[in-house]
Amino acid sequence: MDFGYRWRALMEAYKKIWKAYERANFIATLGNVDRWREEAVSLFYAVDGRSPVKVLDAGAGPGNMARHLRGVRYVVALDATPEMLYVNTTADEKVVGVFEYMPFRDKGFDLLLAGYSLHASIDIERAIAEFNRVSLYQCVVSIGNPNNKFVRKLLSIYTKFILPKLVCLITPKEVCKEYKKIHLIISSIPPNAKIREIVGRYSKFMLFKERGFGSVYIYFASSSNFT
Ligand SMILES: C[S@@+](CC[C@H](N)C(=O)[O-])C[C@H]1O[C@@H](n2cnc3c(N)ncnc32)[C@H](O)[C@@H]1O
Repeated sequence: MDFGYRWRALMEAYKKIWKAYERANFIATLGNVDRWREEAVSLFYAVDGRSPVKVLDAGAGPGNMARHLRGVRYVVALDATPEMLYVNTTADEKVVGVFEYMPFRDKGFDLLLAGYSLHASIDIERAIAEFNRVSLYQCVVSIGNPNNKFVRKLLSIYTKFILPKLVCLITPKEVCKEYKKIHLIISSIPPNAKIREIVGRYSKFMLFKERGFGSVYIYFASSSNFT
């Protein structure tokens, strides 16, 4: 599928799902959605130990990643979907924009967070390069594509036939039908090994983990030209 078309389809979905967003994610991930966000953010504290002062929440949506920050901080939320930003209550500043061309200076942020948003990029490599350009450290959790073909097939069955039905149990029809797009996302993104390789090229240091049999990856990275 053409990437521009896929991206526009996803952005239309984000405009519709925000009301039931976290409920739907909870059931789609069998209860793990927020645990994996927390795990991603906690990698920063495990490695650095300090409180980040200035944080960019990339693809912030309602602000669910930034909720896991500890201590005093200033959070800028960037998102391409204004409807998602309206309901964001954790950010100090909100910016409508895209990952691939971020309106921020080099290394202006101590930490960049990206919760379940990198998979939706128009250009994943360009987004990773921009994440690295604007911040010293990055904590990312994203929908992934398992490396193992058999696991990929099982996940494809789950996302095509089971996940939309589960989400329909607890959300209105106009929301749950958008969750069918998760199947399209997974079938159009590079396998996790490729993402790991791209992140590694832009990082000085990286921790990369898979969760949910590779349906999700979590990484912590420090920028390669970090001074
Ligand atoms: C699934 S929501 C994630 C929200 C939140 N970070 C969380 O942890 O639940 C993904 C968000 O990323 C945004 N997004 C997707 N691709 C983007 C891009 N290329 N540039 C900016 N925002 C993007 C969408 O508009 C959407 O609000």
